[in-house]
Amino acid sequence: MSLIEVNSLCKNYKIADKEQGLSGMLKHIVAPKYHMKEAVKDINFTVEKGESVAYIGSNGAGKSTTIKMLTGILKPTSGNICINGLDPYKHRIQSTKNIGVVFGQRTQLWWDIPIRESFSMLKEIYEIPNSVYDANIKYFGEILGVSEFMGYPARKLSLGQRMRADIVASLIHNPPVIYLDEPTIGLDVAVKERVCEFLKKINKERGTTILLTSHDLDDIEKVCSRIIVIDHGKKLFDGDAALLKRKYAYNRCIVVKTAYDLPKENKICNELPNITVEKTDSHVYEISFNQDEYSAYNIIQKLSEYLPIVDFSLREPSVEQVVKKIYNGEIEREFEV
Ligand SMILES: Nc1ncnc2c1ncn2[C@@H]1O[C@H](COP(=O)(O)OP(=O)(O)OP(=O)(O)O)[C@@H](O)[C@H]1O
Ligand SMILES: [Mg+2]
Repeated sequence: MSLIEVNSLCKNYKIADKEQGLSGMLKHIVAPKYHMKEAVKDINFTVEKGESVAYIGSNGAGKSTTIKMLTGILKPTSGNICINGLDPYKHRIQSTKNIGVVFGQRTQLWWDIPIRESFSMLKEIYEIPNSVYDANIKYFGEILGVSEFMGYPARKLSLGQRMRADIVASLIHNPPVIYLDEPTIGLDVAVKERVCEFLKKINKERGTTILLTSHDLDDIEKVCSRIIVIDHGKKLFDGDAALLKRKYAYNRCIVVKTAYDLPKENKICNELPNITVEKTDSHVYEISFNQDEYSAYNIIQKLSEYLPIVDFSLREPSVEQVVKKIYNGEIEREFEV
């Protein structure tokens, strides 16, 4: 049995169709009308213990809805979730021991009491033994630098401090799995780096399973070894970054520095159909081509028939470019997995 098992998961939201103004409101009271929004459609995946998985998709793709169902906050419309042998919605109380969760957009900490007290309250709620609690406060406190502001209430913390305190709170009871919904949103580069390093460390040293959503693909590449892409509630891709690039990034790019500029009416594009040539600087061209159609050697050889080449480099496609294509709908649905 896998640590996380998600089978045919669906979530529909019932949305009221209200017309504007007072008359719209009255009409809605007399004869309410609704439509269904299918936020998550038939999603399947499993996650093994110790994996670190990025759950990504454009705005409104269904990421937060999935995380809320995985934590047991939301009830699925249909389908099954099993986390460490338990259904997180049906067994909410027992499940909290298995799960840590961070919502970047809002804190789970008590607003007005010092962080230290929030942590102590969690100790009581989760019935954490003294030795485990003390060791965790020391370990997480040191790595995330939380000790400096333990006496402050959440409302007085900066966003970066609050996020670090939230991460400590989510892990204080040693859950085997942690979900993080946009944990680096709004953080400065240094804090972001610290959070990513920390997540990598607990994944490696403690074997904590991580499932995180982020719009920052840098974070994802740093922390996660597997990527699940969802789009309009459906799963489009599940695999590692290298597979994502291999599957979807057909285009390669060569940056070529030439001895002088190509004449405007150059025939290279006619001779090598489907390539695109873009001048990016004086004597510098970026040439994109489909790797199934041409090799870099073909391109360089052809170009050198027209003018001397001073230098060239091959540019690898980035995960960001591929993901942008997916979000823009440029990658066809036939790739659904
Ligand atoms: N409580 C709700 N009631 C009605 N519709 C909702 C509700 N929550 C989310 N939705 C809709 O469900 C869809 C998925 O929303 P969700 O918040 O899961 O997206 P997301 O992938 O987390 O997006 P983002 O990147 O913007 O956080 C969206 O179309 C959203 O408008
Ligand atoms: Mg969201």
